[in-house]
Amino acid sequence: MNELNRRDFMKTGAVATIGIGVLSKSAFANSEAAKTVKVGVIGVGGRGTGHVTNLLTIEGVEVAAVCDLFIEKAENAAAICDKAGRKKPKIYCKDLTTYKEMLEKEKLDAVIIATYWESHADIGLAAMENGTYPGIEVPAALTVENTWKLIETSQRTGIPCMMLENWSFRQDNLAALNMKRLGMFGEIVHCHCAHSHDCIDHWFFDSKTGEQKWPAKYLLNYNRDQYPTHAVGPIISWMDINRGDRFTEIYSTASASKGINSYFKRKFGNDHPNANLKYKQGDIVTSVLKTKMGKTLVINYDMQLPRPYSNRWLLEGTKGVYDEEKASIYLIDQSPEYHIWEPWKPYEQKYNHKWWQGDYSNQSHGGTDYVMLCQFIDAVREKGPTPIDVYDSAVMTAIVELSGISIEKNAPVPFPDFTKGKWETNKPYFAMDKSI
Ligand SMILES: NC(=O)c1ccc[n+]([C@@H]2O[C@H](COP(=O)([O-])OP(=O)(O)OC[C@H]3O[C@@H](n4cnc5c(N)ncnc54)[C@H](O)[C@@H]3O)[C@@H](O)[C@H]2O)c1
Repeated sequence: MNELNRRDFMKTGAVATIGIGVLSKSAFANSEAAKTVKVGVIGVGGRGTGHVTNLLTIEGVEVAAVCDLFIEKAENAAAICDKAGRKKPKIYCKDLTTYKEMLEKEKLDAVIIATYWESHADIGLAAMENGTYPGIEVPAALTVENTWKLIETSQRTGIPCMMLENWSFRQDNLAALNMKRLGMFGEIVHCHCAHSHDCIDHWFFDSKTGEQKWPAKYLLNYNRDQYPTHAVGPIISWMDINRGDRFTEIYSTASASKGINSYFKRKFGNDHPNANLKYKQGDIVTSVLKTKMGKTLVINYDMQLPRPYSNRWLLEGTKGVYDEEKASIYLIDQSPEYHIWEPWKPYEQKYNHKWWQGDYSNQSHGGTDYVMLCQFIDAVREKGPTPIDVYDSAVMTAIVELSGISIEKNAPVPFPDFTKGKWETNKPYFAMDKSI
């Protein structure tokens, strides 16, 4: 696709109307676009360093530059490339806006943005203005206003913008999507999902000292679904959001905040400075979203209570139900016993998505991050649309601010139509694959 066509493609919103196959690994060798993709990574803490490691395993990728606020982190990322026998990336490390210098000086094809939440949108906008594809960690923005800016800038510049929502690429979720597209669940009526992940003891606070890390301020100052995208990522394709349907409203409610104080008292004692602080963030946030076509979705934020990890995905239609937490499925047309669950795994294998042909299980998150980055890089190489587009990124992202507004008002709030009406004619797009 040439530059002009690509810009028209984005401006008309046609990107959302076509099911585009993404360049396969075998196509790489023959493609005229088989050039090295130059990537910069901004923010090389825990997640960004993982991205660097994964990028080094993808054919035809050069990590050309890394940027961080801390020199030891930037040097560590550069050393990982060096040790892997690759060219050492250029290091950028001065202040919060040094990424601008990196974007201007390096001729990067793409940047991975794995910084603190508050900077995601600004860096993504700067990347697009610079002609560089942004792959933005979750969430892509913290406000609906910045979410719109990402859309408008992507449309105006013709540069696709993707939020790196990795759970959309999970093997089980993609198999469920294949089955949904084959009509095996009938008409989809309801879904449920959660991010149930106790992150108090390592991500929000230092596990040894209990000191606040950068995300802790959000727990002190906001009460909302702070982290909806992993839960809702696979759901938006299961529910045809932005493609035949759209969210119309969100109604969120929050429980009391008990878990963080309880954790500090249990682990560090009553006198720890964080043990008696008042956290605005309730332990469990429950959001109910309605769609134009009459579907409902329940999302739980659940990151502050002691519990094993779970996403509790549930997909329910007129012909059956998939329950991820039970690892079970029931299909009226296929299940051998009436109203009795069947094991999910054989279905996952039978309806395996084409993106999961290899064994990537030794990579981070069981290979899901690798699968996602391969698809992102292929899109960059082709100068084509990204597997998750800016509109889907926007829907997932907007839940953060909207859930907070709804909790505050104790009322449903309208959900913006980021496609401006194109949802009615847009065809399914994410992970479309003619071979299923
Ligand atoms: N998709 C996933 O599975 C997943 C998992 C973990 C984290 N994340 C996301 O990744 C992001 C980073 O999280 P983390 O756990 O790696 O945090 P982290 O604190 O370990 O790393 C963030 C890094 O960004 C750097 N940084 C911040 N602002 C910067 C700026 N303006 N310019 C350059 N560098 C900057 C910091 O110095 C730090 O090293 C977050 O958005 C988080 O939500 C996603």
